[in-house]
Amino acid sequence: MSHKKLKVSAIKNGTVIDHIPANHLFKVISILGLDKISNQITFGTNLESHKLNHKAIIKVTDKYFEDNEINKIALIAPTAKLNIIKDYEVIEKKVVDIPDEVVGIVKCFNPKCITNKEDITTRFSVVSKEELALKCHYCEKITSEEHLTII
Ligand code: CTP
Ligand code: ZN
Repeated sequence: MSHKKLKVSAIKNGTVIDHIPANHLFKVISILGLDKISNQITFGTNLESHKLNHKAIIKVTDKYFEDNEINKIALIAPTAKLNIIKDYEVIEKKVVDIPDEVVGIVKCFNPKCITNKEDITTRFSVVSKEELALKCHYCEKITSEEHLTII
């Protein structure tokens, strides 16, 4: 281990979510519900990274996520890597995949959509993952990558 990795201590068991874009750290925390659990959590942000200028890392002790939970962060942290830690060793690495449905993370691009007028959770089906295109469950308009706004 190089010295920079010791900025946030190693954990014995749990999940390390690495390579999160720093500007989306707190969004990832809230999407995964980490603000509502009692597990030990440490995080670091604005760390140096070869791949990202400013990366963040979250370490959650004694917690292993389901793939469908982790995939919720794919739109805001597509570069994230999960490291499954058992007895201090990384036993598995996982990448995030864009899910087939996106609930409550993205704003509908259509200003007339009911989700932009009333307090309704947005819901989209993913019609394309390569060039991201999300079809609104309510107004059926497509929100594309260039118009993507995170709520
Ligand atoms: N880690 C940890 N606790 C452990 C083992 C690893 O917090 N007991 C963290 C490391 O600090 C690192 C991440 O888990 O941030 C992945 O560990 P490792 O695979 O050893 O690091 P890298 O090879 O640098 O991984 P990558 O190439 O994915 O950045
Ligand atoms: Zn809509």
